[in-house]
Amino acid sequence: MKTIKVMTVFGTRPEAIKMAPLVHELERTDGVESIVCVTAQHRQMLDQVMDIFHLKADYDLDIMQPRQTLATITTKSLVGLDEVLDEAKPDIVLVHGDTSTTFAGALAAFYHKIPVGHVEAGLRTFDKYSPFPEEMNRKLTGQIAELHFAPTERNRKNLAAEGITKGVIVCGNTVVDAIHSTVNPDFVFRDDTLNQLDYENRRVILVTAHRRENYGEAMEHIMRALRRLADDFEDIDIVYPVHLSPYVRETAAKYLSGHERIHLIEPLAVDEMHNLMGRSYMVMTDSGGLQEEAPSLGKPVLVLRRETERPEAIEAGTVRLAGVEEDTIYSMACTLLRDENEYHQMAHAVNPYGDGHTSRRIVHMIRHYFGQLPDLPDEFRP
Ligand code: UD1
Ligand code: UDP
Repeated sequence: MKTIKVMTVFGTRPEAIKMAPLVHELERTDGVESIVCVTAQHRQMLDQVMDIFHLKADYDLDIMQPRQTLATITTKSLVGLDEVLDEAKPDIVLVHGDTSTTFAGALAAFYHKIPVGHVEAGLRTFDKYSPFPEEMNRKLTGQIAELHFAPTERNRKNLAAEGITKGVIVCGNTVVDAIHSTVNPDFVFRDDTLNQLDYENRRVILVTAHRRENYGEAMEHIMRALRRLADDFEDIDIVYPVHLSPYVRETAAKYLSGHERIHLIEPLAVDEMHNLMGRSYMVMTDSGGLQEEAPSLGKPVLVLRRETERPEAIEAGTVRLAGVEEDTIYSMACTLLRDENEYHQMAHAVNPYGDGHTSRRIVHMIRHYFGQLPDLPDEFRP
């Protein structure tokens, strides 16, 4: 049996979290050699994840710059990957999701005529400027990829509508594989602010916000709504681990600092994040990953965006789209804080994004593609 050289390429925090279970699955599979290349589009936030999941990079392009532009991320990744692919000569390159690293990774592999596997394929809002630039990154990556690992049936249909029907499997999202390994009822936080919160008698609202298309007015609306909530509800604590983007940090500090019930803290390691989510009352976020994780933990989510490419949890009733207007965000949060029925309707665990076995399915499909495994399980057929 010829060994398959599989190179995973990632660069940001969410890609690393969602690639980690897959890298581990590749590492323990006979007949597969796993190679990891990080662009380090994120530096500190990537390293946090690498440490927690014990991931080691074989190649590290170390491209991050403060206030980097989309063009510098893409060009530095592309040039760096060109050399890495020349040297490592993988049989397949796996990229994840929709970041600039994802697109540059797929394009670099294409220039070397190396097949690409796209993990988390087929998510769409159908608005090329929202999320920006992610919608275009994932569409372009979908055009390049040979294998498409779609989390849900809806994602498969989105690909089919673009004429992509070959090499597609519906396999869930690896984020559910990841959360299975981190959440633990006896977990003790390393961040002392989190140990001191009274999760029994008070209500913790977990907040994150970082999206580029929300920079400016939308982000200011979000921050003002959060401050009003903290002012008006004495029994809530808002915990906001602030993304390292200087723009996000400046805006969060301007609107939210100096309030005794708003805790602006440093980005959390992923195990702390998942366990904090598990103990929170609800989540308010513009993050893609949090929208997928919170439903698994039965936590209501208000999405701080105009649209979402993840409508499955809205249909399942655990996520609501709150938009980016201060008054709407405030009043939707008030409903969940005041009306127990409304809250309990949303607070139930659902798993539209996977069952925790996604990585195993992806590795099976890769081995099938290279002829190591003749059969495809029935569950892979549309
Ligand atoms: C990127 C992705 C976005 C993803 C998000 C996850 C693109 C274009 N955007 O957005 O899809 O949702 O990551 O968080 O690919 N910074 C640090 N240290 C870090 C990370 C970031 O200092 O560890 C600062 C730097 O100043 C950097 C800035 O944050 O220039 C923005 O990082 P960047 O990767 O460009 O954008 P994100 O908003 O993080
Ligand atoms: N996350 C984390 N620490 C934090 C904030 C988020 O570990 O302080 C995790 C979160 O649980 C999820 C992922 O990072 O798994 C989401 O990343 P982010 O919101 O940065 O990006 P997105 O998912 O929107 O692309």
